[in-house]
Amino acid sequence: SRVAVLGAPIDLGASVRGTLMGPAALRTAGLVPLLESLGLDVTDYGDVGIADMTDLSDDPPAKAKHYRQIQRWSRVLARRSHELAHTGAIPVFLGGDHSLSMGSVNGVARHCRDVGQELFVLWLDAHADYNTPETTITANMHGMSAAFLCGEPGLDGLLGGDVRATIPTEHLELFGIRSIDKAEKELLRMRRISVADMRAIDEFGVGVLTRRILDKVRARNGVLHVSFDVDFLDPEVAPGVGTTVPGGATYREAHLIMELLHDSGLVRSVDIVELNPFLDERGKTARVAVELIGSLFGQQITDRPTPTNAIV
Ligand code: ARG
Ligand code: MN
Ligand code: MN
Ligand code: MN
Repeated sequence: SRVAVLGAPIDLGASVRGTLMGPAALRTAGLVPLLESLGLDVTDYGDVGIADMTDLSDDPPAKAKHYRQIQRWSRVLARRSHELAHTGAIPVFLGGDHSLSMGSVNGVARHCRDVGQELFVLWLDAHADYNTPETTITANMHGMSAAFLCGEPGLDGLLGGDVRATIPTEHLELFGIRSIDKAEKELLRMRRISVADMRAIDEFGVGVLTRRILDKVRARNGVLHVSFDVDFLDPEVAPGVGTTVPGGATYREAHLIMELLHDSGLVRSVDIVELNPFLDERGKTARVAVELIGSLFGQQITDRPTPTNAIV
């Protein structure tokens, strides 16, 4: 199959600068040759830039830092994402902070809507990113992207006249969560969003929880966008992140999730976000992220297919 790599060197959505170096670090860690070694037909489209846009005439919300810049990125990314999804390739977006998903997921969702397919989103993250300009404490837009893609109000002018393709709240799967703000928690509860927090992971294990999500997607004949925030991983494994939270996923848990995702054949598109090379330790986090993406695309320890129905 075909993979389309696109970098989005964006860091104004986060509180800490530096994720704009993420795409370069992921390439330096060997992402493209690794995917090619797995037999994939990979095209690296380089990094997107933000063009001059004249129709940015909406009023920026009171609590959304760098709104205009994020708006430009979102529009460019949404358009590119839609085009790439349309070609049939699997787009892999290299971040960049997590605000890029407002564009990337929108474009894929739009394409899925064109072809009448249901899109689900697996949000691997320490954070829920379910704030709105109303609920946010920090006003950082990377904390709002999951809410935006579910159609929550407050950023309604972000895409201007472009299509805003939202996903139903039942199609969002938050996974690995261990930091939620108070008003954000209230909103998640009100919307009945599915949250696999670290407690659920400890009690049931990532294998069971991942299979449950995959079964749900399969039952609807849907496809899955995987939005992988590297702070999903424990800071010991992935120190190169601005918003580390202790008690995250282990190296082995993350690998198992990626292997199960690969075996499912349901992954339609991927984001790799929040890697901050400025904070990394000799490329450690970039390397782990690349390895995990390798597993997501079929790298295996043996060449034996993993049993698909191990759970009865
Ligand atoms: N909930 C906090 C906020 O709204 C943290 C969000 C962190 N998000 C992330 N993508 N790392 O600012
Ligand atoms: Mn995030
Ligand atoms: Mn389309
Ligand atoms: Mn996060």
